[in-house]
This record gives sequence, structure tokens and C-alpha cells, in this order.
Amino acid sequence: MTRIDDEQRLNRKEAEFWDRQEEAIQQLYDRPHDWRFIPALANRIVRGRENYTRRLIAKHRGEIGRVLDIGCGSGWCVHACAEIGIVGVGVDVSGKKIETAQRQAVERGLADKCTFAVADIMELDIEAYGGKVDLLFATSSLHHLPGLGQKLPLLVERLLRPGGYMLFCEPHFEGMAPGLQKFIWGLANGRLTRNLFDHEFFAEVTRESQSAAEEGDADYNLRSESPAGLEFFGEEPVMAEILRKLPGCKLLEERYYHAFAGHLTNAFYVFMKSKVVRGLFRCSFPLLVFADDFMCRFRWVNRHAQEGVWFLRYDGKG
Ligand SMILES: C[S@@+](CC[C@H](N)C(=O)[O-])C[C@H]1O[C@@H](n2cnc3c(N)ncnc32)[C@H](O)[C@@H]1O
Repeated sequence: MTRIDDEQRLNRKEAEFWDRQEEAIQQLYDRPHDWRFIPALANRIVRGRENYTRRLIAKHRGEIGRVLDIGCGSGWCVHACAEIGIVGVGVDVSGKKIETAQRQAVERGLADKCTFAVADIMELDIEAYGGKVDLLFATSSLHHLPGLGQKLPLLVERLLRPGGYMLFCEPHFEGMAPGLQKFIWGLANGRLTRNLFDHEFFAEVTRESQSAAEEGDADYNLRSESPAGLEFFGEEPVMAEILRKLPGCKLLEERYYHAFAGHLTNAFYVFMKSKVVRGLFRCSFPLLVFADDFMCRFRWVNRHAQEGVWFLRYDGKG
């Protein structure tokens, strides 16, 4: 089997995973397995990161007329850009995600400023969508492109006009700080504290979907990583390294977010059985998020951040 066949197979599995996830999305919110699926807490955790990305776009608004969102999912970024007059194209391999994105654009009266396409971003013919854009955007989707180090320079050259910008918000992983991990693990297994935690749910959530993904059409664990995401992390790339070395591009700004707020929310809220502990956690939550955002400015903390934001300019051919 050739590399192209392998890639096509992976793309089909990837699209199927996200189609199924979109169909089951309400179930994932009904029984959240991760802080991202608890809107009341997630909105607070991501607020700092969101405000930062809004500020970056506002600062360069005069140069940005069109945006392309890579792996747009249900299209929230394209919708948000349309609200401030930026015309957007959203691309995703999942037909179900694109259906949702289109439906929401219509419901919000934004359909004339948003176009959505079901496609593998590597195959997108940008000329059919108005030509090269001024801003290339991605949140949590670049890490679904295995071989990103080779693919991204090609995408930039093909999709972005020289002088255009890139705004990427992606997982950035050395993982949870070892001290924090040890502490949480110790509590979850401690003689006095182990009954407070929902160990069964934790095991269910963390069950690797690798074997299911390898078998093809089997029962994916929709609470786990997607097939392409698993492959990407298997390569152990460091996102910051790829982005800092992008040919013909200048890194203008980078920032890191969520070193411990997300992990602690999972431990003391998502997998916590005790209502008292959950209540106490919620009371201390605003302070925790403030401390997390503040601490992520320090290098020794941001090494462990869950997310990074990178803002780059494309100066021409690499
Ligand atoms: C974690 S989701 C992020 C969705 C969205 N950006 C967001 O912030 O909610 C990753 C998305 O990337 C899409 N994706 C994965 N590989 C892709 C590819 N080769 N081309 C286009 N989209 C892709 C998936 O279908 C999925 O919707």
C-alpha cells in the first residue's frame, strides 16, 4: 500500500470519527469527560486565550478581509469573524460538522459572509473559494495532520497571500507538570481519598482508542483522541518547534495557556464524586483560573501548558 493510500485511509477514518462525534455531541455534553465539555467552567478557562486572539485580530483588522479556518468543526471561528465583517471559508473533512456550521450560519443571519466546504485541507482548491486569504486560522486541528512539518509550508504557500497572517491555537504538550500529576494521582489513590474519585469513569475515558482506530470501522472511543490525532502524537512532534521554523514566516507572538486549571478541573470536578469537593472547587475556580493565566507567563510553567497560541506573518516563499 502506498503512502497516498495510507493517507486516504486515515482521512476517511478521521472524517468518520468526527461525523460520529458530531452526531453524539449532546451525549458528550450530558456526561462531560473533560473540562472542555462543561461550558460554565470552560468559558471561564478559555476567556483569557479568547480575548488574546480577538485582540490580535483587531490589531490587524485593516489587513484582514478574508479568513480560512482549517478543520473548522462546527464553524464557530468563521461565524465570529463574519460578525465583525471578515468573510470566511471553513473547511473540514467531516460532512456532519459542516452541516452544523452551515445551519448555524443561517440561524445567526451570517450565511452571506460564510462559506463551508467538506474537504481534506491538503486537497482544497482555494481558487474555487475566492483565492488566497489574508488570515489562516486553526484551533485544535493542525494536530490532526500527521507529517505537519512537511505539510504546513505547502499549505501556507498555497492558501495564504504573501504578507498574510496565521493564527494557530493548538495543544502544546510536555504534559502535566510531573509534581502536579503525582499529587493528583496520589490523592485519587490515597486510602482516605480514593472513594471521592470516580475511578470507573476515569478508566472508561482514558481507554485508548488506538486498537479501534486500527481495526477501521470498529467502535471508536469518542471521548478519546481521533485516529489522525493519535498518529500525530505518536510522532512526538513539538508544535512550537514546527511553527518557529516555518520557512518564509516570522513568528510575531506566542503565548501559552492552561497549565493547571484544565487538569485540576478534570480531577476535582469531572472525576470527583464528592459534591462537597466539587462545590469547594467551584468557589475557588475564579482564583485558580486567574493564577493559571498569570503563571503561564513564566517559561518553567508554560512548558506544561495544554494550549499555545502562535501568531505569524508569511513574508513570501520559503
Ligand atoms: C478537535 S476538532 C477542532 C474543530 C474546531 N477547529 C474547533 O475549534 O472546535 C478537529 C477538526 O479537524 C478536522 N480535520 C481533521 N483532519 C482534517 C483534514 N485533513 N482536513 C480538514 N479538516 C480536518 C476534523 O474533522 C475536526 O472537525
